[in-house]
Amino acid sequence: MTGLFITLEGPEGAGKSTNREYLAERLREQGIDVVLTREPGGTPLAERIRELLLAPSDEVMDADTELLLVFAARAQHLASVIRPALARGAVVLCDRFTDATYAYQGGGRGLSVERIAALEDFVQGALRPDLTLVFDLPVEIGLARATARGRLDRFEQEGRAFFEAVRSTYLNRAAAAPQRYRLVEAARSLDEVQASLDAMMPDLLQRLAERQHG
Ligand code: TMP
Repeated sequence: MTGLFITLEGPEGAGKSTNREYLAERLREQGIDVVLTREPGGTPLAERIRELLLAPSDEVMDADTELLLVFAARAQHLASVIRPALARGAVVLCDRFTDATYAYQGGGRGLSVERIAALEDFVQGALRPDLTLVFDLPVEIGLARATARGRLDRFEQEGRAFFEAVRSTYLNRAAAAPQRYRLVEAARSLDEVQASLDAMMPDLLQRLAERQHG
């Protein structure tokens, strides 16, 4: 593997999509091959699994069903998009990955870390993101932004306690492995957030160069 695998995490309304585009643009300016993708989804089949996960439904989805669907989509995404891109040396910028599973299915739904870790090993083998940007935002701001966007999906319909657990899971994971995570305070203005992303560029470029030449 010679590419670099970067994931963006955080709650709804934290500006991940806008900033993902911004980062991709900065990297492409340097002549870097960038693959922008997202989870759940990123391939036609995985996008169909995403629809199953996000659609509100009268039938309550069992938490284990949810967990297995998330990893089923991930297996497809890894096989058809992420692994081939990394193998050819691209930077993969992925909007959410397995940290979201720890945050939503673990923190939010209360599934055990051990169960998630077992599936992580099974589906990913040794592959983990090289770098994860955690866009952090107070829960009430994220919920207000998601609500303002319109119709809420199955996750967005969860209550405040769910999202507090999601947030603290992200923060705990970031604190436990500071070499892999960068915290981005997403409540600031877009200009300030993007200035902090600009400040990360030298580190990203250096990591990529080390991967490709060393
Ligand atoms: P998004 O478009 O905001 O990223 O919506 C995806 C939703 O899926 C979001 O609410 C988080 C949720 N999700 C999980 O619950 N587990 C996961 O592993 C992933 C990738 C996303």
